Formats: sequence, structure tokens, C-alpha cells
Amino acid sequence: MAYFITFEGVEGCGKTTQIKLLAEALRVAGHRVTLTREPGGCPIADKIRAILLDAANSALTPSAELLLYAAARSQHIREVIAPALDRGDIVLCDRFIDATIAYQGYGRGLERGLILQLNDLATSGCRPDLTILIDCPVETGLKRAMARIEACQPVDGNSREERFEMESIQFHQRVRDGYLSLAADEPERFCLVNGNGSVQEIFAEVSEAVAARLSRGE
Ligand code: TMP
Repeated sequence: MAYFITFEGVEGCGKTTQIKLLAEALRVAGHRVTLTREPGGCPIADKIRAILLDAANSALTPSAELLLYAAARSQHIREVIAPALDRGDIVLCDRFIDATIAYQGYGRGLERGLILQLNDLATSGCRPDLTILIDCPVETGLKRAMARIEACQPVDGNSREERFEMESIQFHQRVRDGYLSLAADEPERFCLVNGNGSVQEIFAEVSEAVAARLSRGE
């Protein structure tokens, strides 16, 4: 059964660990799974990702940033997400349109209507069936994210993916508040998970929510 699940949250919330665990568990249960991420997920979008996350690109304007996320998303949907859903896969995507509303909208202050219009153009109406929001305090998440970045030194001239980690605590707090407000607006699509627990505790909540949705065929 085609089903589209996205994972969201502030930097270092643990979503990437959880999405990998979920992909593994669903495959073991016999589902066909496509695991992907934004920005990126296909060669052209990966090149856009490199521009977006490179800490050296601090001069990128908010509107250039918004357009690059939309461009990467359009390519990713066309090449990866739509074909996988057409095949009947469960698609798991690490970040999607809610990230643009949270980061470029709440974080950067770009107008919501403009973001929604661009997303409509980029996605041709492709929307997640379920969004798992892993929530944790921004200080906790940023500490984890910086430790991860320090542990993975760039190789072959690749840049460090830390342009957003360099933003102020206030920026990340606006992003967190934005995500929580999106979840409150659409409680039937969002599943809000407390990201303060252990990996196993969080995964128990995530897998229970997904199993319930899949069994109802929603
Ligand atoms: P990641 O750290 O989860 O791989 O996400 C990459 C960064 O890109 C993260 O700092 C959030 C940011 N981002 C946006 O600002 N807007 C978007 O639309 C997406 C998908 C990600």
C-alpha cells in the first residue's frame, strides 16, 4: 500500500536515527520501503543540498534559500517520491514541506502564503499521509547536532553541513515553536513524539503510531 511518512524536528532531535530504525522494521515486516531525505535524495537535489548547507554560504539570501529548497523538492518528487508511491512503496522522507514552513517561514520570517504557493508548484499536490514530529528543547538538539558535525570531518574538499547550526538559539526556538504550531493545526496528520527519551523509548512511540495508521489503511 502506497503510504507517505515524513519526519520533522529541530536540529539534533534524533529523527534520522528513528527513520532508519523504522525503515528496517518495516522491511522486516515485509513492506517495500523507499527511504529518502530533503534537501537531497537524488543527484541534482544533492548538489543543491551542498549549496544550502555549506557554512561558507552565509551570504545566501532568505528568498534564494527558499527557491533552492523548492527546486530541490521539485526534482526529488519527480525522480524519487512520486515513482515510489506509484509502485506502492511506503516512502519515508527525512524532512519535507513542513521544514520549509518552520525554517523559512517561522525561522526566517518569509511570508507563509508565498511558501505555500511555491510548495504547490514544487510538489504538484504531493502531501504526506503522516508526519512524525520529534520534539526536544533546541539546546539539547543543537548540542547533539554539533557533536555529530565535529565527529564527521569533511573529506575530499567537501564542506561542513553546518550553516543552520550556526544560527542563533532564537532562530531555532522560532523553528521549534513553528513546528509545534503546525502540529496543533493538523492533529490528524501529525504525530507529536517526545524526543527526550532514549532511542528505544522514542522508537516504541514511533512504531506504534505507524502501525496504527497502516492497520487502519489511512
Ligand atoms: P538535516 O540536518 O535534517 O539533514 O536538514 C538539513 C537542514 O536544512 C536543516 O538545518 C533544516 C534545513 N531545511 C530548511 O531550512 N528548509 C527545508 O525545506 C528543509 C527540507 C530543510
